Amino acid sequence: MKKVAFFDTKSYDKEWFNKLNEKYEFIFIEGKLNPRTAQLAKGCEAICAFVNDDIGKETIDILYEVGVRAIVLRCAGFNNVDFKEAYGKINILRVPAYSPYAVAEHGMALLLTLNRKIHKAYNRTRDFNFSLSGLVGMDLHGKTVGVIGTGKIGKIFINICKGFGMKVLAYDLFPDKKAEINYVDLDTLLKESDIISLHCPLTEETKHILSFKAFEKMKEGVYIINISRGELVESEALLQALSTKKVAGAGLDVYEEEANLFFEDFSNSIVNDDVLSLLVSKPNVIITSHQGFLTKEALKNIAKVTLENLDEYFDGSKLTNEICYQCEESSNKKECTKNKVGRCF
Ligand code: NAI
Repeated sequence: MKKVAFFDTKSYDKEWFNKLNEKYEFIFIEGKLNPRTAQLAKGCEAICAFVNDDIGKETIDILYEVGVRAIVLRCAGFNNVDFKEAYGKINILRVPAYSPYAVAEHGMALLLTLNRKIHKAYNRTRDFNFSLSGLVGMDLHGKTVGVIGTGKIGKIFINICKGFGMKVLAYDLFPDKKAEINYVDLDTLLKESDIISLHCPLTEETKHILSFKAFEKMKEGVYIINISRGELVESEALLQALSTKKVAGAGLDVYEEEANLFFEDFSNSIVNDDVLSLLVSKPNVIITSHQGFLTKEALKNIAKVTLENLDEYFDGSKLTNEICYQCEESSNKKECTKNKVGRCF
C-alpha cells in the first residue's frame, strides 16, 4: 500500500477518508505542514494538505528532499503554495469544487445572523431575557448586494440573494458574459452596495481589495461578508470602519492572521492578536473559524476527489485537477503543457 502523509488531521477529515479509502495507508498527523514538520513525510511519495498548511519554498524543498513528488490539497484555494518552487519537482493537485453551496449558504447564514441579531437574541433568551431593544434589523428585500468574484460560490450566493428579492451588483476581473449578472466596476459596487460579499481568490491583485481607501468609498452602514480569504480585507481598516459606523457589521469566516489560530481550541490560552481580540469583542462582528466548507456533503466530496487525484497521480494518467503557476486555472493564465500532455510538467 502506498503511504500518504496527511497533515493537519481533524476527526471530521478522518471519518470520510477512512470510509472511502481502499488503496492507501494514510499516516494521520495532527500538526500542520511547515518546515518543522515536513520531515514527517519521509517514506511517502504523496502527501495531503489543507488551507493553512505552509507550503512555501522551505517546506517544498524539504518535502522534495525526503522523496515527496505529489501534494494533494483537500481544498479549493491554493494561495498557501509556492507554485514556482514546486514546478518541475512536485505535482500539486486540488479539489476545485466540493460544495460551493456549503460556502455560499454559510455566507447567507452570517448575513442573516448579523442583520437580525440572532446571536444576541440566542444569548438573551437563554437567560430568560425577552426584551427586543437593540435587535432591530432591516429587510434584505430590495437592498443592494455587491458580489466580488462571480465564480462557483459567488454565482450561488447571487442566486440565494435574488431569492430574497435583493438587487445584485457584481465585479469580476473575468466577467462571465453568458451569465445574467449585472457587472459594474469595483468603485460603483463599493459606492452603491448595502452589503458587500467577497468570493474571489486571494491573489496579488485581490490582497486588501477592501482597504482603507475602499472603505472610504462605501455607503454608511454597509455590511461586509468575507467567506473567501482573510487577506482580502485589511483588518485594521475594517476595525476603523466599524468604529466610525461606516460598517454596520461584519460576518467573517476567514481572518488575515488565521493560520496559527483557526481550527484549534485556544479557550484556555491568551491569544496575542490585538486586532482579532478587538474584532471578537464587537457585538456587530461574527467570526466563524473557516467553517464555510463544513457540511457532510462537502466532506464526502473532498475525500472522494482527493482519492481520485491520488489514483490519477499513481496511475500515471492525466492529472485532471493539477494546477501550476502558468496553468489555465491560476489567475496567472499562461501556456501550460497540461492541455497537451495531461500534466503540468
Ligand atoms: P472560482 O475560481 O470558481 O471563482 C473565483 C472568481 O473570482 C472567478 O470568477 C474569478 O474570475 C474571480 N476573480 C479572480 N481574480 C479576481 C480579481 N482580481 N477581482 C475580482 N474577481 C476575481 O472559485 P470559488 O470556488 O467560487 O471560490 C472562491 C473562493 O472562496 C476561493 O478562492 C477560496 O478562497 C474561498 N473558499 C472558502 C471556503 C471556506 O470554507 N470559507 C471554502 C472554499 C473556497
